[in-house]
Amino acid sequence: MLPALPRKYHAASIWLLYAAGFVPAAYGFWLGATGRLPGNPVKEFEHLLGLWALRFLVATLAITPLRDLLGINWIRYRRALGLLAFWYVLMHFLTYMVLDQYLNFSAILVDIVRRPFITIGMGAFVMLIPLALTSNNWSIRRLGPRWVKLHKLVYIIAAAGALHFAMSVKVVGLEPWTYIALVAVLLAYRPIRPMLRGRKRRPPEPALRESERSA
Ligand code: HEM
Repeated sequence: MLPALPRKYHAASIWLLYAAGFVPAAYGFWLGATGRLPGNPVKEFEHLLGLWALRFLVATLAITPLRDLLGINWIRYRRALGLLAFWYVLMHFLTYMVLDQYLNFSAILVDIVRRPFITIGMGAFVMLIPLALTSNNWSIRRLGPRWVKLHKLVYIIAAAGALHFAMSVKVVGLEPWTYIALVAVLLAYRPIRPMLRGRKRRPPEPALRESERSA
């Protein structure tokens, strides 16, 4: 079991996570702007942002099994991880629109309609928007049980993100397979979770946990 972080550091650790979370984007941008990204710098930057978006999605999904199975309670970081995923998808999308397609809206529209991997990515991005907009205590309280239902969209988003990655590459190598496997395991855990929880006789979870209230 990991030593517990004193409560007084919880808020600071969440802000630290936000700050650290944006480092890959800032570093990638700096490398690109100073001509240090190999090959096509725009594509490299776009890929870096897409990969980090997927990593943050996977990390968001891993919070619950980590707590259930290993007793590591990082639930206070789940909202920050989910929002980081959203910001990375947004930056990935903006890089595609502005630096890759030079805001050629008709070409972008054709891509979204005709290229299935972009259709899927776009679908995932659109689904992420209501989740990001309702990632605040006010929405959680207002929506009540509907909030929990709405946020189950993250399962579809993560699956779509991994699929989008696999479909974006010519040869599906180890990296896309790794993300597909991680997402598959994390999603497969959800339906078996009630059985495991039943064995441990845990109380049902509220949408807003005590540990998240200060976040
Ligand atoms: C949840 C949403 C999304 C996730 C997780 C995601 C993730 C990724 C990942 C991991 C890659 C591959 C990176 C690599 O090859 O190393 C990628 C590529 C790409 N994505 Fe996304 N993406 C998302 C949404 C979008 C959206 C909304 C668009 C644009 C409408 C988009 C356009 C692209 C493009 C154009 C590529 C690169 C294809 C190429 O190599 O030419 N993605 N994305």
